[in-house]
Amino acid sequence: MISMFYTVVALACIAFCIGIEADVNVAEKPQEEINKSEQLFRKLFKQRRAEQLDAVKGLVALSSYEKQYKMVNVILDKVFSVIQNSRVLLESSGYAAGISSFPRDETVLDALANILENTALFADIMLHLPDISQKVLAANYEWQVLFQWSISFANQTQLLDKQTVKLLHLANMELNATERDPDYENPYRKKEEKYQFQHEQKISSKKRKKVKKRGPRLSVGEL
Ligand SMILES: *[C@@H]1O[C@H](CO)[C@@H](O)[C@H](O)[C@H]1NC(C)=O
Ligand SMILES: *[C@@H]1O[C@H](CO)[C@@H](O)[C@H](O)[C@H]1NC(C)=O
Ligand SMILES: *[C@@H]1O[C@H](CO)[C@@H](O)[C@H](O)[C@H]1NC(C)=O
Repeated sequence: MISMFYTVVALACIAFCIGIEADVNVAEKPQEEINKSEQLFRKLFKQRRAEQLDAVKGLVALSSYEKQYKMVNVILDKVFSVIQNSRVLLESSGYAAGISSFPRDETVLDALANILENTALFADIMLHLPDISQKVLAANYEWQVLFQWSISFANQTQLLDKQTVKLLHLANMELNATERDPDYENPYRKKEEKYQFQHEQKISSKKRKKVKKRGPRLSVGEL
């Protein structure tokens, strides 16, 4: 009889405890999951950035101005349409940068990732190839307008690492979308100019050598 009583009390106790635990789970688990999802989002963004930087380095190392110009045009065209489409999706979902909490919906998250990644890529290209980018943008005014929007939007999401926030600030000054700091200097411009300068020197000394060796005959391949 006594043991039966204790069994009933024990069962009630267990049920009660499980009930409490279930309540705690309902209250905390979603936030925990959202936090995990945000951490993963930030981690993936970093990985993508590393890949993008490699791609940009490859672009800077291209030996011909024409090739660089063509590539920048193709990439910015693609970046523009990705950002534009993702913006439509995000806005229709009601997501507001800096106000909405981290999105749970996968489609919204994809759109957000697309905007952040492509905006950072645009900033890289703007800063590493400023003269070409400026020419390409001058011919596509609506790209410039959208990139300015996406820089400001990405900055407001609070989802970027410090390095990327700094990068966007530099790109904004390079674009003249915001007043340049008095001591503003594009940290990548020098490299590009130095590279072009060295490259031009190399070509002209190569040409000189060839001219000396076998007269003014240059094959199509050498040009
Ligand atoms: C989730 O992250 C926020 C902000 O970083 C933090 O204040 C909160 O305690 C976290 N919640 C859980 C359940 O991890
Ligand atoms: C990003 O946001 C900060 C804080 O609101 C602001 O000071 C900064 O100018 C913004 N940067 C860009 C590139 O919009
Ligand atoms: C921004 O302004 C500077 C200084 O006036 C100018 O040299 C540069 O070409 C401008 N850049 C763009 C992208 O308009």
